[in-house]
Amino acid sequence: MTASPPTGPRFFRSLLAVASVALCALAFVPRVASAHADAKADGAQTFANSGCEHCHGATGEGTKKGPSLQDERHRMNAEQIKEQIKHGGKSMPAFGDALDDVQLESLVKLLRSKKWPPIPAPTAQ
Ligand code: HEC
Repeated sequence: MTASPPTGPRFFRSLLAVASVALCALAFVPRVASAHADAKADGAQTFANSGCEHCHGATGEGTKKGPSLQDERHRMNAEQIKEQIKHGGKSMPAFGDALDDVQLESLVKLLRSKKWPPIPAPTAQ
């Protein structure tokens, strides 16, 4: 077989291969972003369902019973937030038994986010 010149069919085929890989990568990016948004929305739902809003307010703005959580990302890292929710605090009950790991992670996503999504109404579980 003779080597084809750089403009031969093989060159174009490999060009096509590179282009389709790039396209796949591009298609993947928005999906990662929306998975992140989904976790945040799930966190908002868990927040509404678990009674967090009772003390921290519907959008985490804080009440007399609990501090604001809207700037939590400046105060605690993901691990610390998870520990606080799992074990509670001085005046906060522990939620380690009530929430599974996926719910805990989604709450962390919510509390580490810059902007809270609209908080959904609690749903019956
Ligand atoms: C009975 C009221 C109450 C409920 C319900 C409650 N919290 Fe709290 N939370 C508090 C209080 C009070 C604090 C202040 C520190 C302490 O007591 O540990 C706090 C602190 C926190 C903190 C740390 C704030 C900081 O920077 O010091 C996080 C994060 C948090 N709560 C998340 C949650 C989440 C998520 C839920 C729901 C799963 C929840 N809380 C439910 C009362 C509550």
